[in-house]
Amino acid sequence: MKINKKTSWAFMALVLIAWSCADPGEVSPELNDPDDEDMGEIAIPLKELFEAYFPIGAAVTPQQATASSPHGQALQTHFSSLTAENVMKPDALQRVKGQYTWTNADQIVQFAKDNNMKVRGHTLTWHSQSPDWMFYDENGDLHTPEVAMKQLEEHITTVVSRYKGDVYAWDVVNEAMFDWDPNGQIIYREDSPWFKIMGPAYIDSAFVYARRADPDAKLFYNDYNSIFSWKRNKIYDLVKRLKDNGIPIDGIGLQGHWSVNTSEADIRTTLDLFRTLDVEIQITELDLPVYTSNDEADSEVYTSTFSFRQKVAYSMIFNVLLDYSDIITNVTFWGIGDDHTWLDKPGRKAFPFLLDEELQPKPVYFEVQNLVLNR
Ligand code: XIL
Repeated sequence: MKINKKTSWAFMALVLIAWSCADPGEVSPELNDPDDEDMGEIAIPLKELFEAYFPIGAAVTPQQATASSPHGQALQTHFSSLTAENVMKPDALQRVKGQYTWTNADQIVQFAKDNNMKVRGHTLTWHSQSPDWMFYDENGDLHTPEVAMKQLEEHITTVVSRYKGDVYAWDVVNEAMFDWDPNGQIIYREDSPWFKIMGPAYIDSAFVYARRADPDAKLFYNDYNSIFSWKRNKIYDLVKRLKDNGIPIDGIGLQGHWSVNTSEADIRTTLDLFRTLDVEIQITELDLPVYTSNDEADSEVYTSTFSFRQKVAYSMIFNVLLDYSDIITNVTFWGIGDDHTWLDKPGRKAFPFLLDEELQPKPVYFEVQNLVLNR
Protein backbone atom coordinates (compact mmCIF):
# COMPACT_ATOMS: atom_id res chain seq x y z
CA MET A 1 0.00 0.00 0.00
CA LYS A 2 1.24 3.48 -0.81
CA ILE A 3 0.98 5.52 2.33
CA ASN A 4 0.58 9.26 2.16
CA LYS A 5 1.67 11.63 4.92
CA LYS A 6 -1.67 11.77 6.71
CA THR A 7 -2.34 8.04 6.85
CA SER A 8 1.21 7.32 7.86
CA TRP A 9 1.04 9.73 10.78
CA ALA A 10 -2.36 8.40 11.80
CA PHE A 11 -0.82 4.96 11.77
CA MET A 12 2.06 6.16 13.93
CA ALA A 13 -0.28 7.81 16.39
CA LEU A 14 -2.19 4.54 16.73
CA VAL A 15 0.98 2.62 17.33
CA LEU A 16 2.11 5.20 19.86
CA ILE A 17 -1.14 4.88 21.79
CA ALA A 18 -0.98 1.10 21.67
CA TRP A 19 2.66 1.22 22.75
CA SER A 20 2.13 3.57 25.66
CA CYS A 21 -0.81 1.48 26.94
CA ALA A 22 1.03 -1.81 26.75
CA ASP A 23 2.41 -3.46 29.87
CA PRO A 24 6.18 -3.34 30.08
CA GLY A 25 7.46 -6.37 28.27
CA GLU A 26 4.27 -6.93 26.35
CA VAL A 27 4.65 -6.52 22.61
CA SER A 28 1.75 -4.75 21.03
CA PRO A 29 0.44 -6.51 17.91
CA GLU A 30 0.87 -3.30 15.92
CA LEU A 31 4.55 -3.35 16.71
CA ASN A 32 5.15 -6.81 15.32
CA ASP A 33 5.45 -5.66 11.77
CA PRO A 34 4.99 -1.94 11.40
CA ASP A 35 7.00 -1.78 8.24
CA ASP A 36 4.76 -3.58 5.76
CA GLU A 37 3.52 -0.21 4.63
CA ASP A 38 6.77 0.57 2.89
CA MET A 39 7.06 -2.52 0.76
CA GLY A 40 7.38 -1.78 -2.90
CA GLU A 41 8.11 1.92 -2.70
CA ILE A 42 10.88 3.20 -4.95
CA ALA A 43 13.72 4.91 -3.12
CA ILE A 44 14.75 8.29 -4.45
CA PRO A 45 18.53 8.64 -4.00
CA LEU A 46 19.24 10.82 -0.97
CA LYS A 47 21.24 13.39 -2.90
CA GLU A 48 18.29 13.90 -5.26
CA LEU A 49 15.76 13.91 -2.46
CA PHE A 50 17.62 16.72 -0.70
CA GLU A 51 18.94 18.45 -3.80
CA ALA A 52 16.89 21.61 -3.27
CA TYR A 53 18.04 21.87 0.36
CA PHE A 54 21.63 20.82 1.05
CA PRO A 55 24.35 18.38 -0.05
CA ILE A 56 24.03 15.09 1.78
CA GLY A 57 27.22 13.44 2.93
CA ALA A 58 28.76 10.34 4.48
CA ALA A 59 31.90 9.70 6.51
CA VAL A 60 33.99 7.03 4.82
CA THR A 61 37.08 4.89 4.99
CA PRO A 62 39.42 4.86 1.97
CA GLN A 63 38.40 1.24 1.31
CA GLN A 64 34.76 2.29 1.02
CA ALA A 65 35.64 5.08 -1.40
CA THR A 66 36.34 2.80 -4.37
CA ALA A 67 34.05 2.57 -7.37
CA SER A 68 34.11 -1.23 -7.54
CA SER A 69 32.95 -1.82 -3.95
CA PRO A 70 29.31 -2.00 -2.79
CA HIS A 71 30.06 0.95 -0.51
CA GLY A 72 31.45 2.97 -3.42
CA GLN A 73 28.31 2.24 -5.38
CA ALA A 74 26.07 3.29 -2.49
CA LEU A 75 28.12 6.48 -2.22
CA GLN A 76 27.70 7.16 -5.93
CA THR A 77 23.96 6.59 -5.69
CA HIS A 78 23.13 8.53 -2.56
CA PHE A 79 25.76 11.05 -1.51
CA SER A 80 27.06 14.37 -2.79
CA SER A 81 29.62 15.02 -0.02
CA LEU A 82 32.30 12.94 1.72
CA THR A 83 34.21 13.24 4.98
CA ALA A 84 37.16 11.04 5.92
CA GLU A 85 36.08 9.16 9.05
CA ASN A 86 39.69 8.97 10.33
CA VAL A 87 42.34 9.40 7.67
CA MET A 88 42.54 13.21 7.64
CA LYS A 89 43.02 13.46 11.39
CA PRO A 90 46.42 14.71 12.62
CA ASP A 91 47.67 11.28 13.71
CA ALA A 92 46.80 9.82 10.32
CA LEU A 93 48.39 12.57 8.22
CA GLN A 94 51.48 13.32 10.31
CA ARG A 95 52.10 10.50 12.75
CA VAL A 96 55.83 11.24 12.62
CA LYS A 97 56.86 14.89 12.73
CA GLY A 98 57.61 16.14 9.23
CA GLN A 99 56.57 12.88 7.50
CA TYR A 100 53.16 13.16 5.93
CA THR A 101 51.13 10.16 4.76
CA TRP A 102 48.70 11.22 2.07
CA THR A 103 47.69 7.99 0.35
CA ASN A 104 44.50 7.28 2.27
CA ALA A 105 43.24 10.84 2.30
CA ASP A 106 44.11 11.24 -1.38
CA GLN A 107 42.07 8.13 -2.19
CA ILE A 108 38.93 9.69 -0.69
CA VAL A 109 39.53 13.08 -2.31
CA GLN A 110 40.13 11.49 -5.73
CA PHE A 111 36.98 9.35 -5.45
CA ALA A 112 35.00 12.46 -4.55
CA LYS A 113 36.42 14.36 -7.53
CA ASP A 114 35.73 11.47 -9.89
CA ASN A 115 32.13 11.45 -8.72
CA ASN A 116 31.46 15.15 -8.50
CA MET A 117 31.17 15.15 -4.71
CA LYS A 118 32.20 17.78 -2.19
CA VAL A 119 34.75 16.97 0.52
CA ARG A 120 34.59 18.16 4.13
CA GLY A 121 38.01 18.10 5.79
CA HIS A 122 38.03 16.61 9.28
CA THR A 123 39.91 17.72 11.32
CA LEU A 124 42.89 20.08 11.77
CA THR A 125 43.05 20.73 15.52
CA TRP A 126 41.86 18.24 18.12
CA HIS A 127 42.95 16.89 21.50
CA SER A 128 42.25 13.34 20.31
CA GLN A 129 43.78 11.26 17.47
CA SER A 130 46.73 13.63 17.38
CA PRO A 131 50.34 12.47 17.67
CA ASP A 132 52.12 12.95 21.01
CA TRP A 133 54.98 14.90 19.41
CA MET A 134 52.53 17.74 18.74
CA PHE A 135 52.19 18.24 22.49
CA TYR A 136 55.19 16.72 24.30
CA ASP A 137 58.96 16.99 23.99
CA GLU A 138 61.35 14.01 24.19
CA ASN A 139 61.24 14.18 28.00
CA GLY A 140 57.47 13.90 28.02
CA ASP A 141 57.02 17.52 29.06
CA LEU A 142 54.50 19.79 27.37
CA HIS A 143 56.00 22.00 24.67
CA THR A 144 56.27 25.73 25.17
CA PRO A 145 53.44 27.70 23.56
CA GLU A 146 55.88 28.93 20.89
CA VAL A 147 56.93 25.43 19.81
CA ALA A 148 53.39 24.02 19.87
CA MET A 149 52.00 26.99 17.93
CA LYS A 150 54.71 26.68 15.25
CA GLN A 151 53.93 22.99 14.83
CA LEU A 152 50.21 23.71 14.60
CA GLU A 153 50.84 26.35 11.96
CA GLU A 154 53.03 23.99 9.95
CA HIS A 155 50.48 21.17 10.10
CA ILE A 156 47.50 23.31 9.14
CA THR A 157 49.37 25.12 6.38
CA THR A 158 50.65 21.90 4.82
CA VAL A 159 47.36 20.00 4.99
CA VAL A 160 45.06 22.82 3.88
CA SER A 161 47.43 23.82 1.06
CA ARG A 162 47.56 20.28 -0.28
CA TYR A 163 43.78 20.08 -0.57
CA LYS A 164 43.21 23.68 -1.61
CA GLY A 165 40.34 23.72 -4.07
CA ASP A 166 39.43 20.09 -3.30
CA VAL A 167 38.29 20.34 0.31
CA TYR A 168 35.57 22.97 0.42
CA ALA A 169 35.01 23.07 4.20
CA TRP A 170 37.33 22.31 7.13
CA ASP A 171 36.57 21.40 10.71
CA VAL A 172 39.38 23.69 11.82
CA VAL A 173 38.91 23.05 15.53
CA ASN A 174 37.11 20.04 16.95
CA GLU A 175 35.58 19.67 20.43
CA ALA A 176 37.33 22.51 22.29
CA MET A 177 34.55 23.27 24.77
CA PHE A 178 34.03 21.57 28.13
CA ASP A 179 31.19 19.13 27.88
CA TRP A 180 29.29 18.96 31.14
CA ASP A 181 29.05 22.01 33.32
CA PRO A 182 25.52 23.14 34.09
CA ASN A 183 26.72 26.16 36.06
CA GLY A 184 28.84 27.35 33.18
CA GLN A 185 32.01 27.68 35.31
CA ILE A 186 34.32 25.74 33.03
CA ILE A 187 34.29 27.06 29.50
CA TYR A 188 37.01 25.21 27.62
CA ARG A 189 38.04 21.58 27.63
CA GLU A 190 40.93 22.11 29.99
CA ASP A 191 42.27 18.58 29.73
CA SER A 192 43.14 19.16 26.07
CA PRO A 193 46.93 19.36 25.70
CA TRP A 194 46.35 22.32 23.35
CA PHE A 195 44.61 24.17 26.16
CA LYS A 196 47.16 23.12 28.76
CA ILE A 197 49.95 24.55 26.65
CA MET A 198 48.44 27.88 25.67
CA GLY A 199 44.85 28.30 26.83
CA PRO A 200 42.31 29.09 24.12
CA ALA A 201 44.80 30.99 21.91
CA TYR A 202 45.26 27.89 19.73
CA ILE A 203 41.65 28.17 18.57
CA ASP A 204 42.05 31.68 17.20
CA SER A 205 45.37 30.86 15.56
CA ALA A 206 44.12 27.69 13.91
CA PHE A 207 41.44 29.64 12.04
CA VAL A 208 43.94 32.28 10.95
CA TYR A 209 46.37 29.63 9.62
CA ALA A 210 43.60 27.81 7.76
CA ARG A 211 42.31 30.98 6.11
CA ARG A 212 45.81 31.92 5.01
CA ALA A 213 46.36 28.54 3.40
CA ASP A 214 43.06 28.51 1.50
CA PRO A 215 41.11 31.77 1.46
CA ASP A 216 38.18 30.06 -0.30
CA ALA A 217 37.62 27.16 2.09
CA LYS A 218 34.74 27.43 4.56
CA LEU A 219 36.07 27.24 8.11
CA PHE A 220 34.06 25.51 10.84
CA TYR A 221 34.12 25.05 14.58
CA ASN A 222 32.78 21.50 15.17
CA ASP A 223 31.45 19.96 18.40
CA TYR A 224 29.06 17.41 19.94
CA ASN A 225 26.27 17.92 22.49
CA SER A 226 25.98 21.39 20.96
CA ILE A 227 22.19 21.43 21.27
CA PHE A 228 22.22 21.24 25.06
CA SER A 229 21.84 24.57 26.85
CA TRP A 230 25.04 24.23 28.86
CA LYS A 231 27.15 23.73 25.77
CA ARG A 232 25.32 25.72 23.11
CA ASN A 233 25.87 28.95 25.04
CA LYS A 234 29.60 28.31 25.30
CA ILE A 235 29.82 27.66 21.58
CA TYR A 236 27.80 30.80 20.93
CA ASP A 237 30.17 32.85 23.12
CA LEU A 238 33.24 31.37 21.45
CA VAL A 239 32.05 32.08 17.92
CA LYS A 240 30.86 35.55 18.90
CA ARG A 241 34.26 36.33 20.39
CA LEU A 242 36.07 35.02 17.30
CA LYS A 243 33.90 37.07 14.96
CA ASP A 244 34.15 40.20 17.10
CA ASN A 245 37.93 39.88 17.00
CA GLY A 246 38.04 39.46 13.23
CA ILE A 247 39.06 35.79 13.37
CA PRO A 248 37.96 34.09 10.14
CA ILE A 249 35.18 31.58 10.88
CA ASP A 250 32.36 30.71 8.50
CA GLY A 251 30.30 28.18 10.35
CA ILE A 252 29.44 25.87 13.19
CA GLY A 253 29.38 22.12 12.77
CA LEU A 254 26.84 20.30 14.92
CA GLN A 255 28.14 16.76 15.01
CA GLY A 256 24.62 15.37 15.32
CA HIS A 257 25.43 12.28 17.35
CA TRP A 258 21.85 12.47 18.47
CA SER A 259 19.44 9.84 19.77
CA VAL A 260 15.91 8.62 19.23
CA ASN A 261 15.04 10.78 22.27
CA THR A 262 16.57 14.00 20.97
CA SER A 263 14.38 16.97 21.70
CA GLU A 264 13.00 19.02 18.83
CA ALA A 265 13.01 22.12 21.03
CA ASP A 266 16.73 21.70 21.78
CA ILE A 267 17.57 21.57 18.07
CA ARG A 268 15.34 24.51 17.16
CA THR A 269 16.54 26.67 20.06
CA THR A 270 20.15 26.01 19.08
CA LEU A 271 19.57 26.79 15.41
CA ASP A 272 17.68 29.97 16.34
CA LEU A 273 20.54 31.06 18.58
CA PHE A 274 23.31 30.24 16.09
CA ARG A 275 21.38 31.98 13.32
CA THR A 276 21.97 35.28 15.12
CA LEU A 277 25.73 34.79 14.65
CA ASP A 278 25.28 35.00 10.88
CA VAL A 279 27.23 31.78 10.23
CA GLU A 280 26.54 28.66 8.19
CA ILE A 281 25.46 25.52 10.02
CA GLN A 282 26.44 22.02 8.95
CA ILE A 283 25.32 18.78 10.53
CA THR A 284 28.63 17.00 10.29
CA GLU A 285 28.33 13.55 11.93
CA LEU A 286 24.69 12.54 12.01
CA ASP A 287 23.81 9.17 13.51
CA LEU A 288 20.89 7.98 15.60
CA PRO A 289 21.43 4.77 17.60
CA VAL A 290 18.24 2.84 18.24
CA TYR A 291 18.43 2.62 22.04
CA THR A 292 16.58 4.95 24.39
CA SER A 293 19.33 4.67 27.03
CA ASN A 294 22.66 2.99 27.71
CA ASP A 295 20.83 0.65 30.10
CA GLU A 296 18.50 -0.75 27.47
CA ALA A 297 19.22 -4.40 26.63
CA ASP A 298 21.73 -5.14 23.88
CA SER A 299 20.40 -6.28 20.54
CA GLU A 300 21.92 -7.54 17.32
CA VAL A 301 18.51 -7.54 15.66
CA TYR A 302 16.83 -4.50 14.16
CA THR A 303 13.41 -4.85 15.78
CA SER A 304 10.17 -3.19 14.73
CA THR A 305 10.35 -1.11 17.90
CA PHE A 306 13.72 0.27 16.82
CA SER A 307 12.32 0.96 13.38
CA PHE A 308 9.36 2.80 14.83
CA ARG A 309 11.56 4.95 17.07
CA GLN A 310 13.83 5.89 14.20
CA LYS A 311 10.89 6.78 11.98
CA VAL A 312 9.60 9.23 14.55
CA ALA A 313 13.01 10.68 15.39
CA TYR A 314 14.45 10.94 11.88
CA SER A 315 11.21 12.48 10.57
CA MET A 316 11.28 15.08 13.32
CA ILE A 317 14.95 15.83 12.70
CA PHE A 318 14.73 16.18 8.92
CA ASN A 319 11.58 18.25 9.26
CA VAL A 320 13.53 20.67 11.45
CA LEU A 321 16.60 20.63 9.18
CA LEU A 322 14.44 21.48 6.18
CA ASP A 323 12.87 24.34 8.13
CA TYR A 324 16.35 25.76 8.62
CA SER A 325 17.73 24.92 5.19
CA ASP A 326 18.46 28.60 4.55
CA ILE A 327 21.34 28.37 7.07
CA ILE A 328 22.16 24.64 6.87
CA THR A 329 24.67 24.06 4.08
CA ASN A 330 25.49 20.35 4.52
CA VAL A 331 24.07 17.31 6.31
CA THR A 332 26.55 14.46 6.66
CA PHE A 333 25.95 11.02 8.19
CA TRP A 334 28.82 9.53 10.21
CA GLY A 335 28.85 6.46 7.98
CA ILE A 336 26.99 4.96 5.03
CA GLY A 337 24.94 2.00 6.25
CA ASP A 338 24.36 0.01 9.43
CA ASP A 339 27.18 -2.43 8.63
CA HIS A 340 29.87 0.04 9.71
CA THR A 341 29.50 2.50 12.58
CA TRP A 342 31.74 3.65 15.41
CA LEU A 343 28.75 3.12 17.75
CA ASP A 344 28.67 -0.70 17.49
CA LYS A 345 29.93 -2.73 20.41
CA PRO A 346 30.29 -6.53 20.56
CA GLY A 347 26.76 -7.88 20.92
CA ARG A 348 25.19 -4.42 20.77
CA LYS A 349 24.46 -2.99 17.34
CA ALA A 350 23.40 0.63 16.95
CA PHE A 351 21.72 0.53 13.48
CA PRO A 352 22.04 4.34 13.30
CA PHE A 353 21.50 5.09 9.59
CA LEU A 354 18.86 5.21 6.85
CA LEU A 355 20.59 2.41 4.91
CA ASP A 356 20.75 -1.09 6.36
CA GLU A 357 23.67 -3.51 6.63
CA GLU A 358 23.26 -4.39 2.95
CA LEU A 359 23.27 -0.65 2.13
CA GLN A 360 19.60 -0.85 1.16
CA PRO A 361 17.00 1.72 2.27
CA LYS A 362 15.35 0.88 5.60
CA PRO A 363 11.67 1.60 6.32
CA VAL A 364 12.79 4.80 8.07
CA TYR A 365 14.33 5.89 4.75
CA PHE A 366 10.89 5.86 3.14
CA GLU A 367 9.44 7.72 6.09
CA VAL A 368 11.97 10.50 5.53
CA GLN A 369 11.38 10.34 1.78
CA ASN A 370 7.63 10.82 2.24
CA LEU A 371 8.25 13.67 4.61
CA VAL A 372 10.37 15.51 2.05
CA LEU A 373 7.99 14.78 -0.84
CA ASN A 374 4.96 15.96 1.11
CA ARG A 375 6.40 19.28 2.27
C1 XIL B 1 35.47 8.49 15.46
C2 XIL B 1 35.62 7.43 14.37
O1 XIL B 1 34.35 7.18 13.81
C3 XIL B 1 36.18 6.17 14.96
O2 XIL B 1 36.47 5.22 13.93
C4 XIL B 1 37.47 6.45 15.75
O3 XIL B 1 37.91 5.27 16.38
C5 XIL B 1 37.22 7.53 16.78
O4 XIL B 1 36.70 8.68 16.14
N1 XIL B 1 33.57 12.98 16.99
C6 XIL B 1 34.40 13.20 15.93
C7 XIL B 1 34.84 12.08 15.06
O5 XIL B 1 34.70 14.37 15.61
O6 XIL B 1 36.13 12.28 14.55
C8 XIL B 1 34.78 10.75 15.80
O7 XIL B 1 35.08 9.72 14.89
C9 XIL B 1 33.43 10.58 16.44
C10 XIL B 1 33.16 11.68 17.45
